Amino acid sequence: MISVKHLCKRFGEHTVLNGIDLTVNNGEVVAIIGPSGSGKSTLLRCLNLLEVPQSGQISIGQVVLDYAHYDAKEAYALRRKSAMVFQNYSLFKNKTTLENVTEVLKVVKKIKKDQIQPLAMQYLAKVGMADFASQYPVTLSGGQQQRVGIARAMAVDPDVILFDEPTSALDPERVNEVLHVIQNLAQQKTTMIIVTHEMEFARHVADRIIFMMDGQIVEQGTPQQIFDESTHPKTQKFLRKIMTYDQD
Ligand SMILES: Nc1ncnc2c1ncn2[C@@H]1O[C@H](COP(=O)(O)OP(=O)(O)OP(=O)(O)O)[C@@H](O)[C@H]1O
Ligand SMILES: [Mg+2]
Repeated sequence: MISVKHLCKRFGEHTVLNGIDLTVNNGEVVAIIGPSGSGKSTLLRCLNLLEVPQSGQISIGQVVLDYAHYDAKEAYALRRKSAMVFQNYSLFKNKTTLENVTEVLKVVKKIKKDQIQPLAMQYLAKVGMADFASQYPVTLSGGQQQRVGIARAMAVDPDVILFDEPTSALDPERVNEVLHVIQNLAQQKTTMIIVTHEMEFARHVADRIIFMMDGQIVEQGTPQQIFDESTHPKTQKFLRKIMTYDQD
């Protein structure tokens, strides 16, 4: 389980996250939506210390960390609990598809040498990329690269996978193949936090939707509660805007 309490993050004078409280249960899929600049990416980055908040506490599984006072050992332990999938794939360009996954298995996990390659192939098979094992990222489409990125995140065997707009850099015809992989992970009860502007996807894949604005969680609930039944003016305004945009 993931628990975040009273998380505050400022950049200089600018408060970007203002007292975030968040709980995510094992096997739960949470989608975070909200306008640009509301702090969605920053929140994800605070969960694995890519950004360091000024205050707050986080626990993932057995690892507990106080953002205001922690040591290198605690930071390492926390980072090992999650894996992040970025918008821009961020694969190792000089490594093949297979090597991108074996590298993680070598570095992050203590796996016997002769088991590394078969295990990496299993992860690639899960995202439909086994046939591309020997190809370099530059020879893959964006959607294929993103699927390798997801295989690599799975190889870390994290408690939670964090996705920051995993499809927003993709050509429209490539979006679905990545969404499909994420949907499969959800069916296998992988704990995931997904920042997305794909509202239909969020509706179908997420157990819970969190709507953020101005560094705060405005409201959260089931997809039906947020998308169909919300009476909160801020939520309604945001959804109206994004729906109009989608139809353009
Ligand atoms: N490294 C940084 N230094 C200064 N300000 C930052 C930094 N990173 C983010 N910010 C500011 O924090 C606020 C929240 O940014 P964040 O990237 O978390 O928003 P977001 O909700 O992910 O937006 P988008 O939907 O556009 O990705 C913005 O005002 C942004 O300018
Ligand atoms: Mg963002």
